[in-house]
Amino acid sequence: MPGSVIVGTQWGDEGKGRFTDYLAKEATLCVRYQGGHNAGHTIVVDGEVFKLQLVPSGVLYPWVTPVIGNGVVVDPRVLIAELDMLEAKGVDTRPLRLSGNAHLIMPYHQELDRAYERKLGKSKLGTTKRGIGPTYADKSLRVGLRVQDLFDEKIFREKLDLALREKNPLLSRVYNRLPMDAKEIADAYLALVPRLSPHIDDTVHIVHEALDAGHWVLFEGAQATYLDLDHGTYPYVTSSNPISGGVCAGAGVGPRDIHRIVGVVKAYTTRVGAGPFPAELFFGDPIADTLVDRGREFGTNTGRRRRPGWLDLVMVKHAARLNTCTELAITKLDVLSPFDELKVCVGYRGPDGTHYDHVPYHQSVLHHVTPIYETFPGWNVEIERAEHIDDLPQQARDYVRFIEEFTGVPVSFVSVGPGREQTVVLPRAA
Ligand code: GDP
Ligand code: IMO
Ligand code: MG
Repeated sequence: MPGSVIVGTQWGDEGKGRFTDYLAKEATLCVRYQGGHNAGHTIVVDGEVFKLQLVPSGVLYPWVTPVIGNGVVVDPRVLIAELDMLEAKGVDTRPLRLSGNAHLIMPYHQELDRAYERKLGKSKLGTTKRGIGPTYADKSLRVGLRVQDLFDEKIFREKLDLALREKNPLLSRVYNRLPMDAKEIADAYLALVPRLSPHIDDTVHIVHEALDAGHWVLFEGAQATYLDLDHGTYPYVTSSNPISGGVCAGAGVGPRDIHRIVGVVKAYTTRVGAGPFPAELFFGDPIADTLVDRGREFGTNTGRRRRPGWLDLVMVKHAARLNTCTELAITKLDVLSPFDELKVCVGYRGPDGTHYDHVPYHQSVLHHVTPIYETFPGWNVEIERAEHIDDLPQQARDYVRFIEEFTGVPVSFVSVGPGREQTVVLPRAA
């Protein structure tokens, strides 16, 4: 039975959380495989809003076991605060499983994230300052601390001492920051052990037991294709592999365990942080302002205003290929309702006049391309009450149809509002 993946096809915040929540009702496990609390996934159920950063979005169903896989980086203080938040809302978080192999985000990772950004000045990446990059860097350097290290106080203190022997001179001499105290950090982290240990487990084993038993396992991507460390707009990316292939390393499954890959596409484009964005509409442009206002395009996590733009199907088509999407889910179609006409980017023109029908791999080309748009008529009526594809105006259906035709991937779902029930299932997916 299938492993299914939910993956973002743009620059994040497509609505992965709401579609994970929607699809998880039929799952047994819901697994995060990369990223950390740089993610902000919003779910709205009966008007109640849940904002999740680390806990998988399947947590709201009592029969779903939420799993934080080995590929995730975890700040245990943030995880505990999130569990407390969920418990206060009446959600039973006891089933949550946390991989003992996941790496820990330490206070010096967050301090270094801030220091690197400050040092970059105008060239800063606009990270979430959650310590994500430095934690994955230490993982690659093989000097990271893992969740399982918390079980052995002696080992934990030794590894931390060793880490600070390098981090403290870096912080104080290179970045002019205060050095950190190993004992203080160790005491704070080890004090969390009684609260964390009931959750710590062998998540790879759990995932394979479920797959072997024929249960449906849903893998929830965080970030998105163009924030992928290898395939995104480097260096303006995150430090993990959000693409569907990242599931294999980040959760411990093989490609043959994955059968369904749902690419989530916002009906327009947004990006938080710096980096190239060919179809961007700039601050003060009335269309940009409408997209931000209607779409409430402010970061779930950091509150930053997201940069808006028209839908860029060149990027989505490439994302469908990189992720081998079996289907697409379109979100926030309702945000486009007031426009008389809609533009969709279908190609780029390079600074030397070259026509691109694909995403150019070279950074400086992507920085300087101008978008080639196709224009579509808008529908000019609100659609947030649509329950069936036939409830959508013809122009909206044509817009969805064009996305399918251009990308060559069927659209299974369209969402017309943030609520769980505001999901239109296309006949093929029913
Ligand atoms: P994620 O990071 O991909 O899970 O997405 P976020 O939760 O960060 O951002 C998506 C935002 O759009 C959230 O505030 C959602 O509640 C909201 N949202 C999701 N789907 C829809 C939709 O179809 N229409 C509208 N208007 N808002 C939506
Ligand atoms: P979800 O899962 C949107 C962006 C940051 C920055 C870059 C690197 O909610 O879609 P990092 O802190 O990861 O080192 O920052 O990546 N970024 C996101 N943008 N949605 C996210 O997550 C993001 N997670 C990171 O803004 O540009
Ligand atoms: Mg988000």
